[in-house]
Amino acid sequence: MKLLPIKPHSLMFAPMEGVTDEYYRNFVGKLYPEWDTFSCDFLRAPTPGPYPYKHVRKHMGEGVIANKELFSKTIYQILTTPHAHTLDTVQSIQKLGSHWLDLNLGCPSKTVCRNQGGSYLLSDLDTLRPIIKLIRENFKSTFTCKIRVGYRDDSNFENILKMLEDEGVDGITIHARTRDELYKGVARWEYVKDAVKMVNIPIIGNGDIWTTDDIEKYYDYTGCHSIMLARSALKTPWLAKMYHQKLDDTPELRMHEASKYFHAFYQETLKQNLEEASRIKRLKSVSRYIFDDLPDGVAIKKHFLLSKSFADQMQIFQEFLRY
Ligand SMILES: Cc1cc2nc3c(=O)[nH]c(=O)nc-3n(C[C@H](O)[C@H](O)[C@H](O)COP(=O)(O)O)c2cc1C
Repeated sequence: MKLLPIKPHSLMFAPMEGVTDEYYRNFVGKLYPEWDTFSCDFLRAPTPGPYPYKHVRKHMGEGVIANKELFSKTIYQILTTPHAHTLDTVQSIQKLGSHWLDLNLGCPSKTVCRNQGGSYLLSDLDTLRPIIKLIRENFKSTFTCKIRVGYRDDSNFENILKMLEDEGVDGITIHARTRDELYKGVARWEYVKDAVKMVNIPIIGNGDIWTTDDIEKYYDYTGCHSIMLARSALKTPWLAKMYHQKLDDTPELRMHEASKYFHAFYQETLKQNLEEASRIKRLKSVSRYIFDDLPDGVAIKKHFLLSKSFADQMQIFQEFLRY
């Protein structure tokens, strides 16, 4: 069994486009260092010509690079297509000193798939294999892939896993749905359980793991190495803290942590001197799940997502924090 540079049963904050930019990672990484890894949202390898090195560096973020601890636990994710400048992109990430590169093979976007990127590549292993080879040969540190269980259906699942293992990837994160399922239904944990038996490299489980109780059950059921969380990490950014410190999810804890989170986020937006419009947008993207499960959560969320000013948003938070 190959080793990942994280301990078994690590909790990983998932890559999320529009959320996990440099500023968010910097802020949430300081507030909740209990997460074992963070991840950039994907950098799209360009087709017209290679990115300048400084562009690749900017995606990780100078603030993160300067924070050694945070940088060492941040995964650099890329998305590529057969015609894109994968090699130059990988070489720049190597030059940056990133310890961990992840290839996005799960993105369901129509445009991405039309260009033979993201989850499309799960349906075309002859095209995918040389891309994996190229990255493996040119990236010396940890290289993982983040997949779904297939494109149209799951018939290729075992072949995908075996090919990635044969080509020397160090681990596979599985969002246990097909591309065509998008986010429908509930991710099926049994795929992760099967994958653990099918290959001899670490498997990271992902998809519909919402609570500390789910985390325990997921490990017991699947036997996977670690867990990656996306929407639940946005709903409960203090989830890793709860899990590692064995805290109960009480309303008091939720209120206390939510208040801390919003205040820290507010301070961060002040520091960045953001325009009002981008502040509003950013706050919406990082808080869209946080109201779920509250007695009036649906109404509060709707009100919040329609808010037009930062002052309105802060007022909604004040009301929310009175619960
Ligand atoms: C807003 C949003 C943006 C996402 N962006 C990315 C991304 O950039 N790269 C990626 O691999 N997955 C991305 N995903 C997928 C998640 O990382 C994760 O695989 C998926 O949401 C299932 O996990 P969950 O049930 O814990 O949310 C995104 C998901 C969301 C909700």
